[in-house]
Amino acid sequence: MASKLGEGGRATESSLAAAAVRLEHVTKKYKSMVAVDDLSLELAPGEFFALLGPSGCGKTTTLRMVGGFDQPTSGRIFLGGDDITWTPPYRRDVNTVFQSYALFPHLSVFDNVAFGLRRKGTDKREVSQLVEEHLELLGLGGFGPRPATQLSGGQQQRVALARALVNRPRVLLLDEPMGALDAKIRKSMQLELKRIQREVGITFLYVTHDQDEAMALGDRLAVMHGGRYEDLGEPQRVYDQPATQFVAEFLGACNLLAVNPDHDRLCLPDGSVIGARLGTMASTPSLIRQVGVRPEKMQLRRVDHSDATSPSSATNRVNATVDSVVYLGATSEYELTSSWGGHLHVVAQNIDDADRLRPGDHVTASWHVEHGFALPADNATVTPVEEPTREAKEASRVN
Ligand SMILES: Nc1ncnc2c1ncn2[C@@H]1O[C@H](COP(=O)(O)OP(=O)(O)OP(=O)(O)O)[C@@H](O)[C@H]1O
Ligand SMILES: [Mg+2]
Repeated sequence: MASKLGEGGRATESSLAAAAVRLEHVTKKYKSMVAVDDLSLELAPGEFFALLGPSGCGKTTTLRMVGGFDQPTSGRIFLGGDDITWTPPYRRDVNTVFQSYALFPHLSVFDNVAFGLRRKGTDKREVSQLVEEHLELLGLGGFGPRPATQLSGGQQQRVALARALVNRPRVLLLDEPMGALDAKIRKSMQLELKRIQREVGITFLYVTHDQDEAMALGDRLAVMHGGRYEDLGEPQRVYDQPATQFVAEFLGACNLLAVNPDHDRLCLPDGSVIGARLGTMASTPSLIRQVGVRPEKMQLRRVDHSDATSPSSATNRVNATVDSVVYLGATSEYELTSSWGGHLHVVAQNIDDADRLRPGDHVTASWHVEHGFALPADNATVTPVEEPTREAKEASRVN
């Protein structure tokens, strides 16, 4: 078995004081319904943090509590070290962007963006300069005099962003801000949003149920399920080595191979032994019941291929039969049945026509040991891993 991946553990005390946002055992109940369940999280200053999960898992409720629109039933919320659990929304250094842009329809683009600054009594010349600067930043130069209602959805969302950013909040909360945009505009807005966040350096807490969006945007992401998160970390780590089956399947397609742990080995139903990364299961290997492998990590080869080398210790290999092939241009998707009757799904780049497989072909599916991840049984609970923030990592490098 491969060694444990990713040093988890909580952030150090020193980094806690510096966290831009910290939730400490936050629970929100609506009567007997638990919307957020003992959630602890911390966001580093300047971090783009994505909160990802299916409908109803508690994302908006979490965001609303950070914004001050809802109070936790128990637990505490900190902003830059200050306890703001009971601070009213208007006294929190936080702004929110919603899916519905919520612009003032009777105001121009300029006046929408200037609204918060004027309320704070900002000097007229400064208002003008800041608003123009932010319209430029959002690609809205020259749009100032236009009525807010005479804009496309994408443009309205930019105005909403400019209106929030111009106040230079410590933290910007975004609740599915691209939910109403079509797929193409969404993609280009994603790239821009990432650029803008880097440029302004404000901490973003970004809620979405779109896994691609969370992975593209987040420096880190947390995958929520039933009011808690089941995994938290950098997108690549969470994709490559998810902590649970739910996380594995929420982030993309995944082959799940049933295994039995036998002493130090993982045995497939046909008795063959495979290797995998153990991750969070390293301390409880006897609870491993499945090994996950992403479809694009598996390689297929006809068994009659002349190069019949024996598998190396770094490679897992199973025999299978091709059931169906779907040609998608750049890639082909294969459905297979393994030698013990299990179902496999493989995605392969279409590089060489001669390699294309057909239904009925006998193949080996192989993958690198490092690309398999050990999982508990479907409904088993695992302790979520909270990775140290960048701050904590930096602190540990210094000390
Ligand atoms: N005001 C409320 N009263 C009662 N139940 C609520 C209230 N607000 C939210 N809930 C419940 O709390 C749970 C979490 O809701 P929340 O809005 O946080 O989900 P979400 O993750 O944002 O979902 P979506 O992706 O659909 O927006 C849901 O089951 C929801 O029905
Ligand atoms: Mg929501």
